[in-house]
Amino acid sequence: MAIRNIREIGDEVLTKKCKEVTEMTPRVKELIEDMLDTMYEANGVGLAAPQVGVLKRIVVIDVTGEDPHVLINPRIVESSGEQTGAEGCLSVPGKNGIVTRPNYVKAVALNQNMKPIELEGTELLARAICHEVDHLDGHLYVEKAEGPLTDVEYEEEEA
Ligand code: NI
Repeated sequence: MAIRNIREIGDEVLTKKCKEVTEMTPRVKELIEDMLDTMYEANGVGLAAPQVGVLKRIVVIDVTGEDPHVLINPRIVESSGEQTGAEGCLSVPGKNGIVTRPNYVKAVALNQNMKPIELEGTELLARAICHEVDHLDGHLYVEKAEGPLTDVEYEEEEA
């Protein structure tokens, strides 16, 4: 178990497009374990590999604290509806902004055993999936936020 340093907005690594993962290696396995530890330590609901400085298409998501999802090479294949609400990011500490996202998404990905999986979600889970997949293409929610970011006292639901 290791907590990794979370990169913050302004760090170039957060603007890069990440590379597909082609095989599970001890190094990738360790990265995934560290990403989960780092997400929980920071009270986040999601974390993408570039946020810990690694340009691989890997995200971890857990919107309840009891239901971790590991998504390797995720792709959103369906989306519908709309939700508008506050969104935060562990790479933009202490802030949130209003972002409109689909209310439902379905993603396909590989799990930590490199087996194909599907993950469907609504509301916060749908938002988290979209937010994390954006990270893999070098995008932060601040690009999509409506109006100025606001300061938050309690950093909840950050990804
Ligand atoms: Ni984020």
